Amino acid sequence: MAAKIIDGRAFAAGILATVTAEVAGFRAASGIIPGLAVVLVGEDPASQVYVRNKARTTVEAGMASFEHRLPAETTESTLLALVAQLNADPAVHGILVQLPLPKHIDTNRVLDAVAPDKDVDGFHVINAGRLSTGLPGLVPCTPLGCLLMLKAELGDLSGLRAVVLGRSNIVGKPMAALLLRESCTVTIAHSRTRDLPEECRRADILVAAVGQPEMVRGDWIKPGGTVIDVGINRVPGEAGKMRLVGDVAFAEAVEVAGRITPVPGGVGPMTIACLLRNTLTAAKLQSQNGG
Ligand code: GUN
Repeated sequence: MAAKIIDGRAFAAGILATVTAEVAGFRAASGIIPGLAVVLVGEDPASQVYVRNKARTTVEAGMASFEHRLPAETTESTLLALVAQLNADPAVHGILVQLPLPKHIDTNRVLDAVAPDKDVDGFHVINAGRLSTGLPGLVPCTPLGCLLMLKAELGDLSGLRAVVLGRSNIVGKPMAALLLRESCTVTIAHSRTRDLPEECRRADILVAAVGQPEMVRGDWIKPGGTVIDVGINRVPGEAGKMRLVGDVAFAEAVEVAGRITPVPGGVGPMTIACLLRNTLTAAKLQSQNGG
C-alpha cells in the first residue's frame, strides 16, 4: 500500500494562521509590531526567491519586514556593521542572514555576531549550546518544522529509532538534538557511514538532509516507517526545464514507507512558518526583557 503523503503546505498554513492571530493579539496588548530583518549578500537566484517569499509571508502575518540586499563584493566588516546596527534597532526582533554567504566572508563570525535573542535562525553558538544542553532558546527553523510534523503525525516519539542523514549545523545536528529531546534513539549517518542503506533501514523515522538528488532509494526504507525529505535539488526535467526533487527517490519510497513528505510541498513551507513563529517568540521575549 502506498504511504500517506504528509502535507507540509497544510501544516504550514495552520501554523501561519496561529502565528497571525497571536501577532494581532500581541500588537493589540503591547503596541509592538514584531519585525524581521533579512540580509541577503549577492545575487544567488535561489536565495533571492527565498528572501522574497519570506518578506511576503512576514507582512501577511502582520509583522514588519526589513530587507537588506548587499552586493556580492560586500566586505565582512561592512556586513558585521549592518548586523550590529540591526542588533541595536528596537524595531527589529529577528535577524536572518541568508546563507550561503560569499566565500570571502567568514560565515561563523557573522552568525555569532547576531544577538542571540534576535537569532531567529537558531544558528548562534549560544542557541546551538542551549539546544544541546536542553535549555530554552531559538531553534533552527527547518528541523523545528520537521519535528512539528513528526509529532503531529506520530504523537509520542519516545523510544522510536531515528536516523538523521546529514550532519550540517543547519539541519542534521539540530534535528538530532531535537529528536533526542523527544527520547528517540538517534543515529546521525553521513558520507563516511558504513553501509548507509542498512543503517537507514532500521529507522522508524528517517530524516534525509544531504543535498544529493534522490540518493535514498526505496530499499533503504523500513516498511511502514516515516520519511522526512529535507532535500530541495534542482535537476534537469522535461523540455529543458528544471524540476525539484528531494534527497529521497519519492516514487520508490512511497511504495515502502508508512508516511512521507513530498518535494515540493513537504518540509519547505514549514521552514518559513517556523521562522515567523520564532520571530514572534523573539519579539515576546524582548518585550518581557524590556528591550
Ligand atoms: N539557506 C538555506 N537554508 C537556510 C536557512 O534556514 N537559514 C538561512 N539563513 N539561510 C539558509
